[in-house]
Amino acid sequence: MSPLVQAKGKAGPPTIAPSESKAKAKASLRGSQRKAPIAKGQRVTLWYPSANRDEEVFSDPFQFDIGRTPNPHLAFGGGGAHFCLGANLARREIAILFEELLARTREIELLAAPTYSVLSIWNPILVVPKEISVRLA
Ligand code: HEM
Repeated sequence: MSPLVQAKGKAGPPTIAPSESKAKAKASLRGSQRKAPIAKGQRVTLWYPSANRDEEVFSDPFQFDIGRTPNPHLAFGGGGAHFCLGANLARREIAILFEELLARTREIELLAAPTYSVLSIWNPILVVPKEISVRLA
C-alpha cells in the first residue's frame, strides 16, 4: 500500500471517533495498576488520534512522515473483531484522491490552519474538517 495513504491514515483520519463504553471488569493499561487503574463500571473511551501519536510506538509521533516504516497506526482499529469493514475501500478512495489531485497539480500550499467542526451525536463524537484553505499550482 502507498506510504502516502498509510501516513495520511495515521495523521488524520477524516473522523475522530471515540467510542464511549463501560469497563466490564477491573483493568489496567500496560499492566500497571499504578499508572492507569480502571474500575469495573467506569466509563472509558478510545481516542484513536492519541494512540496514533503514542511516543512509545512512534519515534516522532507528530511528524507527517510518508516514509515511516513500519507504520502501525490504529486509524481503522486495532485488528480485532470490530476492525473497520470499510478499511480497504477507504484506503482505495484516499489513494484515488491523491492520484487524481497529483495528476492536476504538483504544488499544494496550506494558506491557513484548518478549522474543524465537532459533531456530537452522543457516541461517537465526530471531528471533521470545516475549512481547509489551500493554493494549488
Ligand atoms: C478513512 C475512513 C475510515 C476510517 C478512519 C474508519 C475508522 C473506523 C474505526 C476506527 C472503526 C472501529 C474499529 C474497532 O473498533 O476496532 C471502524 C469500524 C467500522 N467501519 Fe470504518 N472507517 C473508515 C471508512 C469506512 C468505510 C468507507 C466504511 C464502509 C463503506 C466503513 C465501515 C465500517 C464498519 C461497518 C465498522 C464497524 C465494524 C464492526 O463493528 O464490526 N468504514 N471504522
